[in-house]
Amino acid sequence: MSRFICADAYPIIHRAHGIGLSIAKRLSSRADWTIHIIDINEEGGKEVANDLPRTTFHHANVTNYKRLSTAFQNAFQAQGQLDFIFANAGFFERGSFYSPQPAEGEAVSPPPEPEMITIDLSLKDGALGLMRNIAKPFRADGIRVNAICPGVTRTSLIDDQVLDRFPQIFVELERVSETVVQLVDGGEKGQGMTDAWGTHVPSAKMFGLAVEISDNGNRYFRDQHDFADEGMKTVFGSVDLSGNMENILKDEANSIA
Ligand SMILES: NC(=O)c1ccc[n+]([C@@H]2O[C@H](COP(=O)([O-])OP(=O)(O)OC[C@H]3O[C@@H](n4cnc5c(N)ncnc54)[C@H](O)[C@@H]3O)[C@@H](O)[C@H]2O)c1
Repeated sequence: MSRFICADAYPIIHRAHGIGLSIAKRLSSRADWTIHIIDINEEGGKEVANDLPRTTFHHANVTNYKRLSTAFQNAFQAQGQLDFIFANAGFFERGSFYSPQPAEGEAVSPPPEPEMITIDLSLKDGALGLMRNIAKPFRADGIRVNAICPGVTRTSLIDDQVLDRFPQIFVELERVSETVVQLVDGGEKGQGMTDAWGTHVPSAKMFGLAVEISDNGNRYFRDQHDFADEGMKTVFGSVDLSGNMENILKDEANSIA
């Protein structure tokens, strides 16, 4: 049985509650998946691992590279392969990354140091850019990278303090986890995905997708902005990671030849 698990599927789910947990539940209902959860919440993580079949918990703060890489290494060694990683650990920020330092008389001070562990909303755009930048070169190695962008979803992240900042319009948690599992499976029944605007992406092209999920359950593929003109495309297309990877590979091939 364990050989079958190794060959088929092996996710790492970063989360002990909310979106990650709902995905772990869906995948653990399939007998050929083994789940590894990495979370800073030791008590919650252990509880989830006890409740779900074929699930192991690794206690780690994902901002600590050594702890994170050790957890990955242990998970990898347990089965010999990783088939899916859902990287979603995050806390809702309590302070504001942009808040100015209150002036004290004439004194000018630098802005207050942000609490790096809780910067969440402020850095989401960076996560999207990273996904788009690595998706093409990773695809060449057989790794598909995609992102989901759900609207406000009722999870343990959304407490009363957060609710005060948003209109109470929620995305169904089940719709979010269903979307993630379809991204893993290559769409519905492996036939690709179609968004609410009618854009169809076949399973072979399901990489580099940013899938926005609205409160009414609609899903939208959100494309990167076009370059403004050919000059910008030439300049910034050439520093695109996928372009760089091609150049690096060409350079390596030339140096060997
Ligand atoms: N809930 C929403 O409305 C919503 C909407 C869009 C995006 N998201 C994003 O989805 C992700 C998950 O959110 P959720 O709503 O499921 O929240 P959640 O609070 O239910 O789960 C977050 C989990 O991440 C863990 N965690 C946080 N920081 C960690 C760290 N440094 N190391 C290890 N574990 C850590 C927490 O312990 C918790 O189990 C977050 O990144 C959030 O920004 C959530």
